[in-house]
Amino acid sequence: MNILIAEHLGFCFGVKRAVDCAEKEIKNKGENLYSLGPLVHNPQLTDRLKEQGLGIIDDIKDIKAGRVIIRSHGVPLNIYKIIEDNDLKLIDATCPFVKNIQKKVKEFFDKGYKIIIIGDKYHSEIIGINGWCNNEGIIVNNKEEADALPEFDKICVVSQTTNRKEKFDEISNIILKKGKEVKLFNTICNATDLRQTACKEIAEKSDAVIVIGGFQSSNTNKLVEISKKYCKNVFHIETKNDLPIEKISKFNTIGITAGASTPEWIIKEVISTMENYNNEEDIRKALEDSVIR
Ligand code: F3S
Repeated sequence: MNILIAEHLGFCFGVKRAVDCAEKEIKNKGENLYSLGPLVHNPQLTDRLKEQGLGIIDDIKDIKAGRVIIRSHGVPLNIYKIIEDNDLKLIDATCPFVKNIQKKVKEFFDKGYKIIIIGDKYHSEIIGINGWCNNEGIIVNNKEEADALPEFDKICVVSQTTNRKEKFDEISNIILKKGKEVKLFNTICNATDLRQTACKEIAEKSDAVIVIGGFQSSNTNKLVEISKKYCKNVFHIETKNDLPIEKISKFNTIGITAGASTPEWIIKEVISTMENYNNEEDIRKALEDSVIR
């Protein structure tokens, strides 16, 4: 079995920064430490950080004291006010690229533009971004929703960082016709693009693709979607324990990729499990051959 590893996979810059930040704060000790929502959409990493002392809160009003980490997805503007009013210690690990979108949205909202966000209305990043324009942004996630938009004088369009470029282009082309003046910002993150392109490249060359990452992770699920476009046999796993070794052993070339929230140690475990299997297979075949000879 040949193993093809995607050129870009695993932690993106923003997630790595947030995890490093959390690990540093854990070491610092001091007041109780919480993240507002799970730090990353990866259950294994979340559990590990929990064991080290990082609590998770769903609502900022759940705590009266302590340190709060804002994860890479960012939060609505009003959360900063609550943190300040309650004298909580803020550790802001919002990804700088997401922060950039939030600032842009605020700037154009203040200038009277209608904000349109291309993305999933239930995703934390989008909920956070909308909170920078008083939750008055319109969130569209497909062509039909864009078609149904009314017309506006001035529109500012931004995108969820993990969107696919084709989707952004398709929807934004419709929105361009909905306003007299339309400011279009392709805020798709380069890390996403790099992972998606690398994923396509290996999927095209592989008989099967293993996508490693949280089942709830949106960017991992997008890699699954892309892989399925170019390869018939795609397996989404969270850890080495989910590896369908029996099923994949019949394929010659197997591609491996991982979502932006998948820690390196999990990727390494999967690869070494496959390599060990490969070695065992080689040894088994060599033994069989030697018996025959
Ligand atoms: Fe940031 Fe891009 Fe990652 S926006 S969190 S570096 S996917």
